[in-house]
Order: sequence, then C-alpha cells, then structure tokens
Amino acid sequence: MIVIPGPSSLNLGAKVAEIAGCRRVDLDYKTFPDGESYIRLREAVAGEAVALVHTTFPQQDKRLIELLLLTDALKDMGAKKVTVIAPYMAYARQDMRFRDGETVSIKTLFKLIEGAGADQFITVDLHKESTLSAFTIKAKNLYASEVIGKYIRDLNLKSPYILSPDKGAIMIAKRVAEIVGAEYGNFEKARDRITGAITVKGERVDASGRDIAIVDDMISTGGTIASAAKMMKDRGASRVMAFCTHPLLVAGARERMKTSGVDEVLGTDTVESEISAISVAPLIVKGIS
Ligand code: R5P
Repeated sequence: MIVIPGPSSLNLGAKVAEIAGCRRVDLDYKTFPDGESYIRLREAVAGEAVALVHTTFPQQDKRLIELLLLTDALKDMGAKKVTVIAPYMAYARQDMRFRDGETVSIKTLFKLIEGAGADQFITVDLHKESTLSAFTIKAKNLYASEVIGKYIRDLNLKSPYILSPDKGAIMIAKRVAEIVGAEYGNFEKARDRITGAITVKGERVDASGRDIAIVDDMISTGGTIASAAKMMKDRGASRVMAFCTHPLLVAGARERMKTSGVDEVLGTDTVESEISAISVAPLIVKGIS
C-alpha cells in the first residue's frame, strides 16, 4: 500500500506511512492567485492500493475540494483501490434538516466523495456515526477515545472524573473512563439554533478536590467546554482539563476556555494544531490494515 499525506495532514500522513511501513508518495501543491488549488502527484500510482490521509480543516471548503480532486485523480491514474481517510470530517454536525429548508451537508459531501471514486472511507469520531449509512462503499469510524484514554490514564490524575459536556459525547466519556478506571457522566447542553448561544446544565457531581477531564469530539469556539468547566470549578474541582478529538479552536477559543477555569486543553492530530499532543496515527494504521 502507498500512503499519501494530503496538504492538510502532512505530519499525520507521514506518521501513518512510517508506522505502517508503507511507501509514502508526496505531492506538489499550491494555491493560484485567485484561490484555486493545484495538486500534482510526484510518483505514479497505477495498480497500487492507496491510502490518502487528508483532513478537512482548516478552510474546510478548500480541503474538501482538494480531497475530491485527489480522489478522482488517483482513480484516473490507475490506482487499484483508494481509501480516503479524512481524520476530521467537516460539516458532520449538519447531519439533518434541523429547520425547514436547510441543507443536509454531510450527506451531500459523502455522495461527492463516493462519486469521486473512493473505494473505502475512514474517519475518526464522526459527529454522528450513523450518518455513514449515506455511503454505499465501506465506511469506518475510528474511536480516538482509545488514544485519549491512554493519554489521560498516564497522567495519574487525582480522583479523576470524566465528563461529557453534552449527551452527544457520552460514549467518548464512557470509553475513556473505562481505560482510565474512573467515574464518568454527562451534562446536558442546549444551543440556540439561531444565535448559537449555549446553556449547559447537569446532575450534581461531587467535583470537590478532584481532577476533572472534560472530553468532547471537537472544540470549535470553546463555548461548550467553557460552560462545563465553569460549573465544575464552581463545584470545587481542583483542576479541569479538556480533551478533544478535533481541535478546531477558532479565534478566541483558548482564551474563552482559560477564563472559564480550564487549566489545560489537549487534542489529537486529526487537526494539526498547537495542542495536538495525542496522535491518532496508530489508530489509523490499525483501521487500514
Ligand atoms: C456539538 O454537539 C459538538 O459535540 C461539540 O460539543 C461542539 O461542536 C463544540 O463547539 P464549541 O466549541 O463551539 O462549543
């Protein structure tokens, strides 16, 4: 198998190739002055099984176009099988028509990826796993809780409690808690669909003197984590750490979390950021082998 690190996953793709012991094929790429993407494979791929590792953030629209261009080109150049690995899949939160007239964005994108010629699709902690049913090709969701859980376990936290800030991430919290050997639970979050304002409420957790690890699939504005962290600090938590699979971290997110009492924020390299201390490369290698 050949591994191709896409422009948005250069480090992660290289790690995947190294751990899997596969040949890596690099790309030439640039953005034209008008914003269009140019991509060229440096080596031939005819007759090969190819794993393309290309996440779809930041600049999700540009990254998605690159993903489609590459997938189609790989098939066109004779690749035997193309596995598209989008460690972070953009638009996954728009998985239904919440209000009349809305697009069901993730479904459209999955149709395009399959239409471009992907033979298999792999992602990590897709916002809602069931949306993969929009594919007719083989599609897999990998769980970063495996690597996040091991990371938290090795921190030897004091009387740890694993918290999901909403119902959506409860399975992540459960899986992490099993690895850490800790209690877990969840808050409930409501988001105003028009203003985006968040309210979090939750069962009484005795946080006093404990280390709290909040886990979520993604951190965007940091608002969800900030609200949950504030409640935990108000309840006497000695330390609040936040962990996410996809650190999108839009402008102001880190500051927002810090001022709400979050002592540390860490994420994986599904999105390569300054806090991506936990690698999903071993997980992806297992997923493709
Ligand atoms: C939503 O349900 C997700 O799981 C995350 O909780 C959410 O997208 C995080 O967004 P933000 O950081 O903007 O609160």
